[in-house]
Amino acid sequence: MTVSVADAAVGTTPRMPRPVISLRNVFKQYRMGDTDVHALRGISLEIGRGDFVGIMGASGSGKSTLMNIVGCLDVPTRGHFWLDGVDVRTLDDDDLARIRNRKIGFVFQSFNLLPRMSALANVELPLVYAGVRPNDRRARATRALEAVGLGERMDHYPSELSGGQQQRAAVARAIVTNPALVLADEPTGNLDTESSLDVMSVFADLHSQGRTVVLITHEEDIAGYTGRVVKLRDGQIVDDYEQDPAEARGTHVAHAEAGRAGESL
Ligand SMILES: Nc1ncnc2c1ncn2[C@@H]1O[C@H](COP(=O)(O)OP(=O)(O)O)[C@@H](O)[C@H]1O
Ligand SMILES: [Mg+2]
Repeated sequence: MTVSVADAAVGTTPRMPRPVISLRNVFKQYRMGDTDVHALRGISLEIGRGDFVGIMGASGSGKSTLMNIVGCLDVPTRGHFWLDGVDVRTLDDDDLARIRNRKIGFVFQSFNLLPRMSALANVELPLVYAGVRPNDRRARATRALEAVGLGERMDHYPSELSGGQQQRAAVARAIVTNPALVLADEPTGNLDTESSLDVMSVFADLHSQGRTVVLITHEEDIAGYTGRVVKLRDGQIVDDYEQDPAEARGTHVAHAEAGRAGESL
């Protein structure tokens, strides 16, 4: 991938850190019968490397649509999107699939684990697609599960895990490829409070390791874990502010010294 053209287009200078995510006047329309649904109406947004951002807004405000575009699962109807300085429109399907597999980790509200596979086998799957050899797969999946506190339950099937444990397994699956960008769409939407806090502390860890984390939620206390909140209404950004996560949550959090995620993005 070359980035020089995109760099010129976003007007960054070589000294400025390039935003990982850069959207310029993005629109997304869906055709429903003979009406157009305007899911995004002129989104401009930049997210820097290592940021932890919460996307908030009522149901139907365009959060998932925005996430799908940022995650290269969908494309804008109009406007520009650069991922790590690269204009995504210049990439073909193979490039996009590779980026999704290697550089982006996805977590969804419904954990999407395969029911007939153990937690370990579920977490190994992205490595299967990435062509990693079986022994390496097992070792890396084990480490990812240990990192989310599921080392003891790797051989359990999803039905033998609580909701919070299933979501932690899904987070392990999202990070097993060591992606620099983690995208989560209402990851605590199906969890009780205690499990939600558990899962959020895993995201906070990922951020402290240097990963860029973008998390959709409509719960204020969940958004309180992030350092920046972007609010959507009817497909537009209506608020965008930085916050101290510890203050926002009203609790003290020790911030681990940031390390760096393995892959550049
Ligand atoms: N595939 C689709 N086809 C038609 N309309 C859609 C589609 N996906 C989303 N929408 C519509 O776009 C708007 C934004 O949806 P979405 O991004 O899912 O919002 P949120 O995640 O904030 O609830 C809604 O009006 C929704 O009904
Ligand atoms: Mg949604």
